[in-house]
Amino acid sequence: MSFYAKINVVMKMSIKQSVLDIQKNFDINAIYARHLFHIANKNNLFEEIEKLVEEKPKPFVKWVGGKRQLLKQFRELGLYPPDGFDPIANTYFEPFVGGGAVFFDLLPKKAELSDLNKELVTTYNVIKNDVEGLIKSLKKHKHNKEYFLDIRSQKVAKLSDLQIASRFIYLNRTGFNGMYRVNSRGEFNVPFGKYNNPLICDEQNLRRVSKALQKVSIKHQDYKEVLRRAKSGDFIYFDPPYYPVSKTASFTSYTAESFLDKEQIELRDTFVELSKRGCFVMLSNSDTPFINEIYSGIKGVKINKIVAGRAINSKASGRGKITEVLITNY
Ligand SMILES: C[S@@+](CC[C@H](N)C(=O)[O-])C[C@H]1O[C@@H](n2cnc3c(N)ncnc32)[C@H](O)[C@@H]1O
Repeated sequence: MSFYAKINVVMKMSIKQSVLDIQKNFDINAIYARHLFHIANKNNLFEEIEKLVEEKPKPFVKWVGGKRQLLKQFRELGLYPPDGFDPIANTYFEPFVGGGAVFFDLLPKKAELSDLNKELVTTYNVIKNDVEGLIKSLKKHKHNKEYFLDIRSQKVAKLSDLQIASRFIYLNRTGFNGMYRVNSRGEFNVPFGKYNNPLICDEQNLRRVSKALQKVSIKHQDYKEVLRRAKSGDFIYFDPPYYPVSKTASFTSYTAESFLDKEQIELRDTFVELSKRGCFVMLSNSDTPFINEIYSGIKGVKINKIVAGRAINSKASGRGKITEVLITNY
């Protein structure tokens, strides 16, 4: 090996070690750690990274099924992000984006986000394109039940995109448990949340989110559209509405459409199709016999168990952790 080749190897090893140190010290994923290593000032590496981590954008809505608390487990299983995924050459897809916990964790350079919830997608795009207008509008909202009901009763079809986004964030911050639920007519029906002092306008975070979205596309479309776009080497994370744990447990409805047996099987077929194409595919769901059954016996597919923070039932005697699955094709 020539002298320069040796230097190259040593440098690569020391970069790898630095990235690992960053990952460990700041408890962050490999893709984000690599990104920070490249942009931070090397003379002051750890102080600078501490500041960048503090200023990282985070989800701007509370979303039922949000994945923020589970990401550490995903990482510890060694499954997230997939080792072979190259975020410079390839694209990250999140077709059930919701609050986007995984996108905001990874902050990949090339990303395509989508969801079937039209107001949510409009909100992402308003944050991307007119964050200052949105901040101005959010600052005008009031926090009381009468005003909440008034805003809730507005007909979305008559509002501008800016008004839709402002209403959407307002209702999310002040409605019960930050839930998003619609009735069969697609009307938002979550009750007033009775918070003392909810943060309706987190302007600093909204500006950071806006910056992070500048090169990202956010579309209102069905998850199956990912089949038209994803190529070998891309990474797709599916976080669909979960299959109900029991017949009565299906409490969430992010959209007016249901997502039951037929839809879960179609999603499994999409998963398999993307696998055949050479994509890295990761999927979350409830740990139920049905979900285990439809993903078992597929070549290369692993069903991993994750402990969710929630209790099975509200009676103290029956308390226990429930598990979820994280299904991967790598
Ligand atoms: C479990 S949530 C995703 C949560 C998200 N990962 C987070 O961390 O906040 C499921 C999402 O799927 C969306 N959705 C439901 N059916 C869909 C479909 N057919 N295509 C695309 N998105 C859909 C819902 O609007 C909802 O935002």
